[in-house]
Amino acid sequence: CGIVGYIGDKKSIDVLTRGLEKLEYRGYDSAGIAVVNKDEMKIVKCKGRLKNLEENLEEISIDSHVGIGHTRWATHGEPSDVNSHPHVNHKGNIAVVHNGIIENYLEIKEELKKSGYSFVSETDTEVIPYLIDMYYDGDLKKAVMKAIKKLKGAFALGVLSLDEKDKLIAVRKDSPLIIGLGEGENFIASDIPAVIDWTKDIYILENGEMAEITKDHVSIMDFEGNPIQKKVYKVTWDIDEAKKGGYDHFMIKEIFEQPKAIKDTLMSRIDDSGKINLDNIDIKSEDIKNIEKIYIVACGTAYHAGLVGKALIEKYARIPVLTDIASEFRYNNPFIDEKTLMIVVSQSGETADTLAALRLAKEKKAKVLAVCNVVGSSISREADYVFYTWAGPEIAVASTKAYTTQVVSLALIALYMADMKGTIDEFEYKKVLEEVKVLPEKIEKILESQSNIKSAASYISKSSDIFYIGRGFDYYLAMEGSLKLKEVSYIHSEAMAAGELKHGTLALIEENTPVLALATQDFLYDKMISNIKEVKARGAYTIALAKEGNTEIKGVADFIIYIPSAIDELTAPLAVIPLQLLAYYVATERGCDVDKPRNLAKSVTVE
Ligand code: G6P
Repeated sequence: CGIVGYIGDKKSIDVLTRGLEKLEYRGYDSAGIAVVNKDEMKIVKCKGRLKNLEENLEEISIDSHVGIGHTRWATHGEPSDVNSHPHVNHKGNIAVVHNGIIENYLEIKEELKKSGYSFVSETDTEVIPYLIDMYYDGDLKKAVMKAIKKLKGAFALGVLSLDEKDKLIAVRKDSPLIIGLGEGENFIASDIPAVIDWTKDIYILENGEMAEITKDHVSIMDFEGNPIQKKVYKVTWDIDEAKKGGYDHFMIKEIFEQPKAIKDTLMSRIDDSGKINLDNIDIKSEDIKNIEKIYIVACGTAYHAGLVGKALIEKYARIPVLTDIASEFRYNNPFIDEKTLMIVVSQSGETADTLAALRLAKEKKAKVLAVCNVVGSSISREADYVFYTWAGPEIAVASTKAYTTQVVSLALIALYMADMKGTIDEFEYKKVLEEVKVLPEKIEKILESQSNIKSAASYISKSSDIFYIGRGFDYYLAMEGSLKLKEVSYIHSEAMAAGELKHGTLALIEENTPVLALATQDFLYDKMISNIKEVKARGAYTIALAKEGNTEIKGVADFIIYIPSAIDELTAPLAVIPLQLLAYYVATERGCDVDKPRNLAKSVTVE
């Protein structure tokens, strides 16, 4: 979910709706605002996209200069008008927007019911305005402090009260929240893009911090009310980077940004002598030599990048790497001790399961290295070491440039570790690093010659199922290609290790079922040719992805997509580009909402 808040001289609904537009990637089941209009609290909220809310707002004239807003991704309670935020107390004078989950809300609800309160929604959030109401005796800040003492779980809050309409209260525990500092105006938001139209001076609230915000002043304190001095964080990137810049969708813009994103990731990591320099991450060579095993833990696309990272680290640094999906890892009784390095991979740095996995690893004394894109995010702040991917803001829900920069970052980490441990010779180190450096150029080439991908997309867009098959690195790539396609086009898609086909999935191949065969691994090439023949014999329409120069495949598959030649270990960041494009074109051909696929959210801050 996404939160915004405003207090100042501007029309608050304009600021709130513009801020919410920037946060829609966090969820868009419903949206709402609460503003003080003269002496009245006005709440407007609706199910569905933000534009529904904006249409409703057009019909009413609201003169207000303070308010809070919310865009929701449903957790407790279906998406509906009544379950939308803001939530208010029975008197309608206290409004709350919330991001996170209140774990003990049923318990609190029962207690409040006994005190005579009754509830209208199914949400966990609704208990908060009631608690504040119960504790209110003329000081909003104190009432909020008392209320949050009762809450268990994760909560970023924005609170507005008719009785103290010259202020907003903001609270952060386990869900992100920032404060934008203006001249005679201040803002709150879940993420920086929501406020950078107006200010680049930010306070990033830490867990256990809250703020009392008027138009001219922001005071930060802990949950006991002890004042906290904070440093202003200056945003260095521009709003243009978070806009579509001429492209139809963020997804395609972000696909085309990959050469630059990778260049930015590499920049300053390779020094003049041609060596990887990770001094600013401050991982000591002693620490690396002491590592007995590595865990790579992440969710979604970041997990798929982690799988490629595993193969790279094992190959070059010869350290055993276990991989797990963050939501599974914690419940699997993992083997972690002080000789384990945990690598968490996360674009947003806010994914709840990944963050919880990080905390578990730290509790068990492992050191944690985060590969993360968002500076100041929870994961980047809690990890021992951070390798930033420098991909710039990624807005489309389907992750593209984050994946490639994560893979490149993990390749650098693998080579760096290998060098420290002496498991790679100088010649190979240089050769692999050279290959990494030319990735942006090769990706440019793929992006320039993408026209045949559209015809493959046109074929797939009419299908109801598709299978991605591959071996080794290509299997990991198949998982990412398949995820991309299903999330944006809603076509059922599965990724299979090609050798496993015979053990079940082959039964699903019918006349004209598309099968995307990834054949970028030289030493597995012949095996893939056999797999292609195997599915073709059952009627499949085969689309093969291979390195330039592999001509034998022409006589076997129905359709070929070539990528520039590269070493087997580094084909993933190249071959993923046509797969991303394919997913994009299939989705646009089917008229899907590419940047905001149904039921999905960019940043999953609930478990
Ligand atoms: C969501 C997004 C995915 C992303 C995953 C992990 O599911 O839609 O694109 O890969 O979360 O997010 P993270 O921010 O931790 O990389």
